[in-house]
Amino acid sequence: MPRVRPLTVRPVPSWGGVFEPPGDKSITHRAYLLGLLAHGESRIERPNPGADCEATLAAAGMLGARFAREADAVRLSGRGDDRVEPAGVLDCGNSGTALRLLAGVLAGTPGLAVLDGDDSLRRRPVGRIVTPLRQMGAWLAARDADRRPPLVVRGGPLTGITYTVPVASAQVQSCVLLAALGANGRTEVALPGAARDHTQRMLPAYGVTPEVTVDGGGIRVAIEGPAALRGASLRVPGDFSAAAFFLAAAAAMPGARVTARGVGLNPTRTGLLEVLEAMGAKVERAALGEAAGEPVGDVTVEGPAALSPFDVPVEWLPRLIDEVPAWTLAASAARGTSRVTGARELRLKESDRIAVLAANLAALGVSAAEGADGLAVTGGPAGAGRVHSAGDHRIAMTFALFGLRASGPVIVDDAATIDTSYPGFTGDLDALAPGARMEETSA
Ligand code: S3P
Repeated sequence: MPRVRPLTVRPVPSWGGVFEPPGDKSITHRAYLLGLLAHGESRIERPNPGADCEATLAAAGMLGARFAREADAVRLSGRGDDRVEPAGVLDCGNSGTALRLLAGVLAGTPGLAVLDGDDSLRRRPVGRIVTPLRQMGAWLAARDADRRPPLVVRGGPLTGITYTVPVASAQVQSCVLLAALGANGRTEVALPGAARDHTQRMLPAYGVTPEVTVDGGGIRVAIEGPAALRGASLRVPGDFSAAAFFLAAAAAMPGARVTARGVGLNPTRTGLLEVLEAMGAKVERAALGEAAGEPVGDVTVEGPAALSPFDVPVEWLPRLIDEVPAWTLAASAARGTSRVTGARELRLKESDRIAVLAANLAALGVSAAEGADGLAVTGGPAGAGRVHSAGDHRIAMTFALFGLRASGPVIVDDAATIDTSYPGFTGDLDALAPGARMEETSA
């Protein structure tokens, strides 16, 4: 049982500066798995160092990839089609992305594999990947009538399918695309709305060019299988979702100014910046070029004297699905009520984020109304208090930063979960807001 690690943050008169968030988590998972499926060596620079991506790397190792670490890179020798039946359970820890993407790889890997994880992961849905992978010819079974992990996959020869994912989930689309790389024939996967497109953007570096069609509001991606991947060398952009906590906290503090260096600016990820701009925050983007098929740049956010409330349009949501916790930092400082709707998926993340956000905001005296598929937050002062991370890294980081603008210290009961995505978070907090973090107290 890992040790409980509380985190206490208190207000400081001013804070801000420049920081460099870790490599992008979503992109790192994909780089490792495409590296496993490739022939030859890949070099992945600035991979995300958190436990989630480490779980994917360890699983790639159990499937036969050899890897070596350099100071800030991982070298990985791929297996192509010659993957090994894993000798033990593939432990995905807290990571839904690891589990769902690995399932796509395992569907085409001969032999039996079991995917499992922590209590949070065991509550998350897998039916959404079981359905298309079965259609492709894999055998799968999961707990709770095939709905929840552990998930058992018996992989073998696959056939391409045409499939429309019922929810705008990039994990499901990517899971099917990873299976499609080894399948016979053409696979087409359509999403009902735009979601992160990292897999499509990265594939050309590994020698495969998918066909991408923007289809109404959604995206259709097609791959001709089997496709031969070759090793790639790529640099992972900084994680916008990790940067988002400090950027949203700056928007909420008049005069605070924060710059995140070298972050991914893929428009499918940066909806939060448009929301902060609509609320009146000053947002500057400085393009730096491209990495791993993604636009990269520096982003600066400055907190205005006052923030206006803003209702996030439903169609923007997939572009800030992971930033809704961070959004509450800004929404709770606005002069009025801001709303997120159409976000039922938030109940299926590392925690039920709608319920947990509402409860924690209430614990700090911020007015928040929980809806079936969203949240309404009314701006006002935030008090000192104790909140629950619910084992969810994004909840823990959000409420740690509430401490910067609350009337007194905010105690996050257990912040150990931050290490799943952003092990350097407290170090960056110390650099941007010296004196804000208080000595650890016992839980
Ligand atoms: C991710 C997709 C999103 C996101 C998750 C990472 C990915 O999940 O919330 O943190 O890397 O593909 P869904 O696909 O379930 O929307």
